[in-house]
Amino acid sequence: MSENKRPETMQRITTPELAQAFIDEQLPLLREQIGDGKVLLALSGGVDSSVVAALLVKAVGHQLTCVHVNHGLLRKGEPEQVIRVFRDQMDTNLVYVDATDRFLDKLAGVVEPEKKRKIIGKEFIDVFAEEAKKLDGIHFLAQGTIYPDILESDGVKAHHNVGGLPEELNFELVEPVKFLYKDEVRVVGKALGLPDEMVYRQPFPGPGLGVRCTGAITRDRLEALREADAVVREEIGKLDPVPWQYFAVIPDIQSTGIKDNKRYMGWPVIIRAISTVDAVTAKSVEIPFDMLCRIRDRIIATVPGVNRVLWDLSDKPVSTIEWE
Ligand code: XMP
Repeated sequence: MSENKRPETMQRITTPELAQAFIDEQLPLLREQIGDGKVLLALSGGVDSSVVAALLVKAVGHQLTCVHVNHGLLRKGEPEQVIRVFRDQMDTNLVYVDATDRFLDKLAGVVEPEKKRKIIGKEFIDVFAEEAKKLDGIHFLAQGTIYPDILESDGVKAHHNVGGLPEELNFELVEPVKFLYKDEVRVVGKALGLPDEMVYRQPFPGPGLGVRCTGAITRDRLEALREADAVVREEIGKLDPVPWQYFAVIPDIQSTGIKDNKRYMGWPVIIRAISTVDAVTAKSVEIPFDMLCRIRDRIIATVPGVNRVLWDLSDKPVSTIEWE
């Protein structure tokens, strides 16, 4: 059997019982691989790395150290949730690094999307490697690699996400969910007791809000985007079924608004909700008009600097899911 091929006999994990059987099988394997060594994990708060963290906490407890890097481009409430779930509820060794200034300073004035991605990817590796070097005696690096990442090594993630750890760190990899598909990772996450908000989280790109605050990112527009996105997610999250991805974008343009009889310039917020199977093609999801109006009213009333709300009803192709 190739090291990177899912065993043909492996049953699809679809129920809590099968998830528990997977967990019971993995824990001794992880203990055997790690022994009394120390493990490091970059914990983004996404479902894959969260499930790996929860498995490792069960297997080796405080031998695991998680590093959560806040690059300033996370959605509203995300870093707080990672701290609440992992540090407060699971008693995980968690290093929280607020690197917002570092990332935003490097991104200042950068307009080109792939250049923004490269900066975010490289800076992330640098911050993570710096934290790793501060810790003594780490031998293992845990990763939330899942089976589609192996199958689609030329897929979107691999295409967009740059970098790799510096060679001198020289870790042995621990990848307990590498043969699982996304839906199986979610069932395992649920069995491990992770909150639904984390387990059923919609996909979120590595560069985060950075590719939804188009052009050169400014702190005020990024903050407006974070607030508007929270409203869009809360409202569209009420749809049944919930779309595959739904979020806000603030492009780098302004238009005229009017308030108290005075004209002023403000940003538009763009609402996007799509359904897809594999992110290669995607359909715009129908959003009820009263929901759109509620989103508009809430954003206009609460998000400073925004004076217009638009709905992006484009399909992929020809429009990509993200704006950049
Ligand atoms: P596009 O915009 O290419 O997106 O239609 C397809 C899917 O990929 C996600 N995406 C990314 N994911 N790093 C990631 O990890 C990235 O740089 C990136 N860019 C796009 C996007 O959210 C969608 O799910």
